[in-house]
Amino acid sequence: MKVLLLGANGQLGSDIRRLWHDDGIELVSATRADADVTDGAVVAALVGRLQPDVVINTTAFHNLPIAESDPETCLRVNVVGGWNVARAAAAAGAAMVQISTDYVFDGERREPYSEECARRALNVYGAAKIATEDVVRQMNPDCLVVRVSGLYGLAGSAGKGGNFVETMLRLAAGGQPLRVVADQVTAPTNTAAIAEGLLPLVRDGMRGVVHLAADGECSWHEFAAAIFEISRLSPEFQAVTTEEFGGPVRRPLYSVLGSERVARLGHWRDGLERYMAERTTRWHRRRSAGTRVTKRETPG
Ligand SMILES: NC(=O)c1ccc[n+]([C@@H]2O[C@H](COP(=O)([O-])OP(=O)(O)OC[C@H]3O[C@@H](n4cnc5c(N)ncnc54)[C@H](OP(=O)(O)O)[C@@H]3O)[C@@H](O)[C@H]2O)c1
Repeated sequence: MKVLLLGANGQLGSDIRRLWHDDGIELVSATRADADVTDGAVVAALVGRLQPDVVINTTAFHNLPIAESDPETCLRVNVVGGWNVARAAAAAGAAMVQISTDYVFDGERREPYSEECARRALNVYGAAKIATEDVVRQMNPDCLVVRVSGLYGLAGSAGKGGNFVETMLRLAAGGQPLRVVADQVTAPTNTAAIAEGLLPLVRDGMRGVVHLAADGECSWHEFAAAIFEISRLSPEFQAVTTEEFGGPVRRPLYSVLGSERVARLGHWRDGLERYMAERTTRWHRRRSAGTRVTKRETPG
């Protein structure tokens, strides 16, 4: 099975490249330099030339504050981009896997959302991802939509300038007092776990919508506390409400993803411990190879 991976330099894309070892799958990676997903002709040419059996679209515009002030870009990359990929995949007779988000939900529930729950987004990014899910499935019914939540991976998210774990470590190292929201509950998920959970679904040809997220749930404040505990840091560190934190983006207060179709991934705490361990290993490997290591990457 030939699989074309779009967004190969992203957090999830990098972990798919790093962790997919399957003799039955030929993985071909593409980055923005190979095809900007907003350019339909370029995407069609790439997919037409490679003739994959499956196209995985991990690309996204997911900087939420910028999405509020520049919805056009958010809609173009997510919705038009998704539509371009789905159209090219359908024309090549390929199936499509579209990565989506917990932010398609409004957070009114207090128990995990299943695949069948009604979607209602609170912000531009969530609305764009709902539209992406819909246009992709219309354009290519041979499709799997995979909703994930609270991603962090070794590659760091280029679009957000890092990820939550790296941001917490950087701010703690900088000695600034920290404020972290304690009333938004989710299941932060290591992209390594998503990559490993996705492989059998692609191999087995699952279609429709599925949720892939870590087990358990926590607030961002609890997650930050776990990051500091594992890295033995004790910054000044205050719990605040979403209202106190402020900002231009409305976010769901509860966005835990459950599933009627697959088992939830390992517990979020295990995913975090794995991330911290792999981050440290990478740091030592780079150091012994003489690669310049930035302060941001220093293990806590
Ligand atoms: N991060 C989260 O917390 C989170 C939560 C829920 C769902 N998701 C979803 O999970 C998926 C993967 O997220 P991630 O954290 O792995 O994202 P990421 O690290 O930001 O990676 C996204 C990739 O998309 C590429 N990209 C952006 N615009 C593009 C364009 N116009 N054409 C081609 N490539 C483009 C980026 O390339 P450059 O490096 O060149 O910019 C980047 O490599 C996305 O669908 C996202 O919506 C993410």
